[in-house]
Amino acid sequence: MSASLFFLFFLLVGTSLFFVPTHQKPTISLNTTTLSKSGNAVLIQWSEISDPSHLDWLGIYSPPSSAHDDFVGYLFLSSSPGWQSGSGRLSIPLTNLRSNYSFRIFRWTDSEINPKKRDHDRNPLPGTKHLLAESPELGFGPGRGPEQIHLAYTDRDDEMRVMFVTADGGERRVRYGVRRKALGQVAVARVGRYEREDMCDAPANESVG
Ligand SMILES: *[C@@H]1O[C@H](CO)[C@@H](O)[C@H](O)[C@H]1NC(C)=O
Ligand SMILES: *[C@@H]1O[C@H](CO)[C@@H](O)[C@H](O)[C@H]1NC(C)=O
Ligand SMILES: *[C@@H]1O[C@H](CO)[C@@H](O)[C@H](O)[C@H]1NC(C)=O
Repeated sequence: MSASLFFLFFLLVGTSLFFVPTHQKPTISLNTTTLSKSGNAVLIQWSEISDPSHLDWLGIYSPPSSAHDDFVGYLFLSSSPGWQSGSGRLSIPLTNLRSNYSFRIFRWTDSEINPKKRDHDRNPLPGTKHLLAESPELGFGPGRGPEQIHLAYTDRDDEMRVMFVTADGGERRVRYGVRRKALGQVAVARVGRYEREDMCDAPANESVG
């Protein structure tokens, strides 16, 4: 009887010692979850990363449901001054892709570099095996004008093409003229819609990422 009590006591002490967290879970915070316009920056801060590696990285995802490997961009945490302390901050300007963003931090070490997996610039692709933290979602505020405006010549000498994207297929007009203060002409935009299948290669033409 007393022997089993003693054993139980010892086990409890042992487990509680083992589970007392010596490190908090890493966290990511954003200084805002809504950007008012495309190109504005978000400040991303992280903390509580224990034993930081100079290859730990922050992945940028849009939409937030994208698979780990389908990041739209990434930055090494070591580009933030004082990263060795396990906390830091990065400011990133974001284009409105008309889908929310999220950010994930991964642990990556020298021994995990796979020389066979490289990006277009021949840099090794960062590893996604060890997710440390994920941020809340960030979106763009409503009611903003057309995005991604492009001007181009066409095959006709007297013609120009103006392309832009909007959140809906409603009627849009483009004013134009020979002087900034005299935009007397108006053209109604023709609306087209592109789908996943119209993207030129995987993963864009196969998944939401
Ligand atoms: C968030 O940080 C970015 C980048 O540092 C800054 O431009 C922006 O004004 C900040 N937003 C808020 C709401 O503080
Ligand atoms: C996008 O992010 C914002 C800010 O976190 C959130 O309020 C909104 O619900 C998100 N949108 C979707 C479709 O999840
Ligand atoms: C995606 O694009 C690639 C390259 O053009 C093509 O080989 C593949 O079949 C496409 N996938 C789908 C689902 O259309």
